[in-house]
Amino acid sequence: MSTLVSNIGELVSESDNLPARAQRYAFSFDHGVITWIGPEDQAPQCDDIIDAHGGAVLPGFVDSHAHLIFAGDRSADFAARMSGDSYSAGGIASTVTATRAASDAELRSNAQRLVGQMHSQGITTLEIKSGYGLTVSDEQRALRIAREFTSETTFLGAHVVPAEFKSDPDAYVDLVCGDMLTACAPFSRWIDVFCDRGAFTPEQSARVLLAGKAAGLKVRLHANQLESLGGIEVAAACGAISVDHLTFMSDMELAVMAENNIVATLLPGVEFSTRSPYPDARRFLEAGITVAIATDCNPGSSFITSMPFCIALAVREMNMSVDQAVRAATAGGAQALDRHDVGRIEPGMSADFLILDRPSIDYLAYSPGTSPVQRVFRGGQLLRSSHE
Ligand code: NIG
Ligand code: FE
Repeated sequence: MSTLVSNIGELVSESDNLPARAQRYAFSFDHGVITWIGPEDQAPQCDDIIDAHGGAVLPGFVDSHAHLIFAGDRSADFAARMSGDSYSAGGIASTVTATRAASDAELRSNAQRLVGQMHSQGITTLEIKSGYGLTVSDEQRALRIAREFTSETTFLGAHVVPAEFKSDPDAYVDLVCGDMLTACAPFSRWIDVFCDRGAFTPEQSARVLLAGKAAGLKVRLHANQLESLGGIEVAAACGAISVDHLTFMSDMELAVMAENNIVATLLPGVEFSTRSPYPDARRFLEAGITVAIATDCNPGSSFITSMPFCIALAVREMNMSVDQAVRAATAGGAQALDRHDVGRIEPGMSADFLILDRPSIDYLAYSPGTSPVQRVFRGGQLLRSSHE
């Protein structure tokens, strides 16, 4: 059955062939896939119509970085940081203890709650990492549960070295590259490592990424959140699709990312929640790097499920225009996940789109704290609605 989406305030398709903010445009979809886009007065006859009531329409958000399989509470860590403490990778250990002790049902229902919040805020594609189990069975369990929510699952056994391996971190890296990878690869699309102070060295990171790659996984990396250790060079050598965080970046590292066509996934929720300096997204864009924005939803450094809030931060604090930030949260996220079927409204793409209750996408950043996302469609189906 064909459906036409019409009466759109402005259509932000992220297609390179259309105006950035198309006026009096419409599009149609059939069986969940976009079939046509163009001026409304040239629209084909369709079986059904969705009336946008003059609201802006844009692609569903693609959140390429989230850690949703965990238990426990770290709100006190956040409060302590706001009183002057600083963030360190050490806090991850408390979430690992709580996650290991939790039942499958607890982990599943916590993830379900967060995924529900993400859907309501317009996220139609999301990635979920393991990384709070850090044993063969706990990491595999996290990925099995993550798979219930998304096909974009990432094995992050190398998140931090767990307490029982503190005296021999390389033995833990051996485990991650060996039995843990064997158990987790069937449930994963991606391999990732936290390459930073208090986590893994560039050498250890390269071992894990190359082992994951040899097992058929695609490569992504956490790097340069706390300091620059050499993770960018490792990512380039291992064929990473995306490097995430990038709070601290030299011009040389930017050049390496540009040369190797690596997506820069910026996580403004982390700078917000850890009171760190925000990276300047314009440096990345001017270097010719594709930028993605993701929530990094996790209990430690960014307990945030709202992409509109991340867009508002990127605009206000990272020097992005509204158009650049929205592109980073849609087409940029899709590129960070190496996905060619989501992130844009154009023929052949999945009919994943958002209808705002305001006429322009500016409201995503202009009016933070109230979400203008009114209706969320995925594969042409209504996923969430706050429509009266
Ligand atoms: O992406 N940086 C490493 N990992 C997570 C934070 C994990 C935590 O603090 O629990 C992140 O920010
Ligand atoms: Fe992360």
